Amino acid sequence: MANKENGRKFTRYKLLGIAAGVFIAVGIVLAGLWAAEKNCDAAVQELPGVKFVRQVVSQDNQTGRTVMWQTEKPMNAPGVEYRLFGDGAGDSKKVAAKAENFTDDGVTVTLYTAELTGLPQGKQLEYRIIGSDGAGPWHSLQLDAGKGFSALIFPDSQSNNYSGWKSLAQGAAERHPQAEFFINMGDLVDNGEDHRQWTAWLDSVEGIIDRIPVAPVMGNHETYNMDWKVRQPAAYLQEFAVPGNGSSQYNRFYYSYDYGPVHFIVLNTQQGELEELSPELLAEQIAWFRRDAAASAKPWKVVLMHKDPLQYRIHNRPERTEGFSEEGQIWMPLFDEVGIDAVLSAHLHTYRNRGHIKNFQHAADGPLYILTGVAGNVRYPGLWIDHALDEYVAPQPETDNYMVMEASQEELNFFAYLSDGTLLDHAVVKH
Ligand SMILES: [Fe+2]
Repeated sequence: MANKENGRKFTRYKLLGIAAGVFIAVGIVLAGLWAAEKNCDAAVQELPGVKFVRQVVSQDNQTGRTVMWQTEKPMNAPGVEYRLFGDGAGDSKKVAAKAENFTDDGVTVTLYTAELTGLPQGKQLEYRIIGSDGAGPWHSLQLDAGKGFSALIFPDSQSNNYSGWKSLAQGAAERHPQAEFFINMGDLVDNGEDHRQWTAWLDSVEGIIDRIPVAPVMGNHETYNMDWKVRQPAAYLQEFAVPGNGSSQYNRFYYSYDYGPVHFIVLNTQQGELEELSPELLAEQIAWFRRDAAASAKPWKVVLMHKDPLQYRIHNRPERTEGFSEEGQIWMPLFDEVGIDAVLSAHLHTYRNRGHIKNFQHAADGPLYILTGVAGNVRYPGLWIDHALDEYVAPQPETDNYMVMEASQEELNFFAYLSDGTLLDHAVVKH
């Protein structure tokens, strides 16, 4: 009996001990979660006044990246600290940032640019903004590993309310977390001088642009002032320190960069708007284009241009015939000449896949031409009459869309999606 009683007591004590252990363990886990949440809260706090931390593509993204941000009041000793991802105990390096005061639309901000070069090739890094007042949270930075990649492509995001653009961009980034950079095809904003619109655009890509770089394309709306007259695209040029093109007059107007097996050539198609202000823009750019394309040994060459090379008829405008726009007449023979593989365009706010075109007609060995669609809330329902070269036209009237590009040594794949992730179209280019 005594042994039985002792056995029961032992079992009770054992159960009590287990319960106490479980209680303590749960407490430790909850405390850990609470602490993690506190740390997380702390991690999202930037340095006082630091806004819109962003990455911009470098010419060579295997070893370089540009980091920018802005403040309302100048900060002291601004810079970027970086290290291998998750290597808290390892060495970090610091790079000083260039600070520039920029006044536009009656608002002055200080813009900071840190060009990170000589980075460990293809590695995943993390970086943070530093200044004399401390340091901000770490952000991830993935360098180009030189192999295949996936990228997000957004058509015109210009809007009078940027909430649609925000949900499109955030949804696409969530759905395609593997994307290593994103392209915005021009007309990022409706008015290039409107400070509030730039703020809305940057706010819409928070959480994306700090961890993957943007490759912007200049559109005609970037050249408009508040009176809707043409001006130099001062805000666009300041907001994104894209790779230099060697031009003394038109630096950052057009540029090129490499990612994985692709050489991207980003053209400026505002020669019409900027004719009086920048008369040599086109001739200079054509000479640069030939040199730039010839100098690249990458297996793929892709052109990004805001204005579409095709011309569409419009109802009740008989003088506007089907054919090729001024930009198409200028550039398409050059694309054939240098062997461009794919041409992405925008401006018309409609998604169309025209297949391969050479010498102004369908030809399997010409570049693939895709008009990328619309990502903002400015839409032209039923405006365009289908072009004989259109092979796929998005369902009408159109809603927002985005694209994903997947590149490998063997293939370029272009996928078009509605904002909810519904696949619209798929095109592939093979050698
Ligand atoms: Fe446009």
